[in-house]
Amino acid sequence: MNVPVEFTKEYIEANSPKEEQLYTAFLGSGEPYRSINRHNFHMGAREGYAHDPAKAPADSSVPGLDLEDDELYYNTTGSAAAYWKQFDLPKPTKDIRKLRADLREWGYCLIEDALSKDQYVRMKKRLSDQAAGERKAGIACWTGTPLPPGENLPRTQFLHTLINKGEQFIQCVEHDPRGVQGGPLIEQILKETMGPGFLMSSFIGIMPTQYNMPQGLHMDQAMSPFVDSNAPFTVNTMYIMDDLTAFNGGTLVVPGSHRLLSEIGSGNPVEKPLPPAINLEAPAGTVMMFEGRLLHGTGVNQSDAERIILVMNSVKAVMRQQELHMLSAAPDVLENASAKLLYRLGAYPGGLGGVEGAWAEYIVNQRFAIERGEYIRVRELSPDSSVEELSRDYGYRYSESGRHQASHQPESIPEVARYHSVEPAWQLKS
Ligand SMILES: [Fe+2]
Repeated sequence: MNVPVEFTKEYIEANSPKEEQLYTAFLGSGEPYRSINRHNFHMGAREGYAHDPAKAPADSSVPGLDLEDDELYYNTTGSAAAYWKQFDLPKPTKDIRKLRADLREWGYCLIEDALSKDQYVRMKKRLSDQAAGERKAGIACWTGTPLPPGENLPRTQFLHTLINKGEQFIQCVEHDPRGVQGGPLIEQILKETMGPGFLMSSFIGIMPTQYNMPQGLHMDQAMSPFVDSNAPFTVNTMYIMDDLTAFNGGTLVVPGSHRLLSEIGSGNPVEKPLPPAINLEAPAGTVMMFEGRLLHGTGVNQSDAERIILVMNSVKAVMRQQELHMLSAAPDVLENASAKLLYRLGAYPGGLGGVEGAWAEYIVNQRFAIERGEYIRVRELSPDSSVEELSRDYGYRYSESGRHQASHQPESIPEVARYHSVEPAWQLKS
């Protein structure tokens, strides 16, 4: 084939020096994370806002952590607490004007009693039951925080796809006051921050257990380096299901970081030291709303008590694929697809667009299993569920994360051991 020379790989390569490329330098800047994690720069964050368990002292009483060092971002009761004492940080309130002011100024606000007592009790029981049920069924998903040294699973359990696990969670998505009395107020704030056409991106439960590693601080508006100083394009609604304190690792936040980070502009380094992180402290039944540019992450739960939060992420309905290829692609097109084609169709979520917690792996098996009518979704479970129900052939068991964690699950019933070696029907053709 006689191809014009301008279209050949060699010619294109030779005529694409880095300095002539369109936005490659901007896209590859790694900012703001490169400078967020700078050592010896930010306040109370000697090693930046990310945690490396391997750096903890070998003789630490809790492997992988150093809970004594005041200069690490996840220890907030010393100089960080003293620093923030001089500011009037958000407190739980029902006053919509105060909530708006807090969200604008600090990047988060706290809605007092967003769940009524009765709604709270109902939701908490459903979550505790579901979490225990999924552990027994051997399908608990352990993720979200770094792996402690020498262990096989992170110490944080996630509950995925809550819409399938109880009516009240659907009411949360609809902001129906029958399930969440503060729903109309939450919905109003979401409409004001992202416009009325926002989507629910995910709704998950997060349960750090004793001495989980802290999560690196991040913005959920993670399509970095795009940060706009006018408004966020994602907002989280976080249901606090147990009283949060510094001791049980209340969510770490850097108040006001949404302003500091968006004012420097996309792709630029942070030039001025950021303030220290602080653990969120708020009573159960409160809803925290925080926007996508706020620096935050899971803190260290030092208690041995259950500690659950739910996070509903809402996003502007932009930058979705116009065509939902994972529904519309013909079976043989998927079957024969290269890794490149699968990625471009959205079959490899890489964190966004997954199925029941299978977020960073090919989701072709799920699509085929659904098509065959064989995909079993995880529905309401509890520790009292029957053995039959706990040991069903759930689709999640065939996901990569389900398979990798199956034999390490701490509380699973013996009847599910038969799934430890399952192989999914579809495999990527190399
Ligand atoms: Fe996050």
